[in-house]
Amino acid sequence: MSLITPHGGKLIDREARGTEREALLQAAVTLPNVTINARAEADLELIAIGALSPLEGFLGEADYLSVRDHRRLANGLVWSIPITLSATAEERARLNVGDNVALKTRAGQVIAILHLAEIYSYDKQREAEAVYGTAEDKHPGVQVLYSQGEFLLGGKVTVLNHPNGNEFKQYRRTPAETRALFAEKGWQRIVAFQTRNPVHRAHEYIQKCAMETVDGLLLHPIVGETKADDIPADVRLRAYEAILENYYPADRTVLSVLPAAMRYAGPREAIFHATIRKNYGCSHFIVGRDHAGVGNYYGTYDAQKIFGDFTAEEIGITPMFFDNTFYCRKCDGMASLKTCPHDQSHHVSLSGTKVREMLASGEIPPPEFTRKEVAEVLIAALRQPLKAAAA
Ligand code: ADX
Repeated sequence: MSLITPHGGKLIDREARGTEREALLQAAVTLPNVTINARAEADLELIAIGALSPLEGFLGEADYLSVRDHRRLANGLVWSIPITLSATAEERARLNVGDNVALKTRAGQVIAILHLAEIYSYDKQREAEAVYGTAEDKHPGVQVLYSQGEFLLGGKVTVLNHPNGNEFKQYRRTPAETRALFAEKGWQRIVAFQTRNPVHRAHEYIQKCAMETVDGLLLHPIVGETKADDIPADVRLRAYEAILENYYPADRTVLSVLPAAMRYAGPREAIFHATIRKNYGCSHFIVGRDHAGVGNYYGTYDAQKIFGDFTAEEIGITPMFFDNTFYCRKCDGMASLKTCPHDQSHHVSLSGTKVREMLASGEIPPPEFTRKEVAEVLIAALRQPLKAAAA
């Protein structure tokens, strides 16, 4: 019995430990340094633990161009999102190919050493159009790209610190750890669920439809940077705990966090999310409506269609597609247009804005939309800042 092979063949480990780590931390003091953004910080953690296998660092130019234009690394392996590290002209002037470069957080902590192999310039607009399907700076992923430095630094990394390592510690499992856990449970067919939202009824329904055909569920919320109006990760975690405790069989569910930043790249991010979950040992991956989408940038099912551009062997993990799901009062249950014959007037559908308004005013949304236990967590969290402001 064995789990799915990691993307590219083996799990990468770019973590420095023990005396090697101590020596590198000391050496870092005198190295040239670059300050990195939240997204690069998250990428470093993912690279270190092998979540982005086979990547061992930030892309060099040949890989970058190949990923941007062909959704593959230069060696042909499917890879849909450029994992890059930017530098400003001022930073670039202090760096030479061959240097070891200390990568620092905005708070000044050294978290990794970049073994600088390449410095190259890039076309941000072209990347925006290719990866996000738009050059508009209103798009949150494009916004991050436009705010970056004008140069990219390629090379392997050695990671020394995880600045957010203590956040959600009990749920922060590496790919090696989830694999060990699945093996211990005797699971082989595991479906992963990516999310940046609380689990509402639609999410629960598609997860459980998938669970009917596999051994277990990995509920794998993103806890890196998300847009300001997305619900913060700590609140979501409490909501996940509440729904799991009340509505899921404990022996068929694992809650674990993914320390990645959201990019909102829709279809390309769906492929990226799937390959990451393959590294965590999952055999199946749920892709519903407008996966990793934002605004109206992508078609409702574009993130499903993109899988058709690759063979099943190239992707490895099996996508499970779901249409838009909702509660139908006539069916008296969750459904989609694939399973419900009734008119839209019988469907309970609420916009995200409407739900936020209800929660903010302390109103519990209908049980057909969200479980009461989840709504209670969200209402309590939304009321907190109001109370603080009133005090
Ligand atoms: S995402 O950015 O992580 O995709 P979200 O947390 O809302 O956002 O979605 C998690 C997963 O559930 C995605 O695969 C998404 O396509 C799917 N999904 C969300 N809502 C629905 C729905 N009503 N019907 C079908 N799939 C959905």
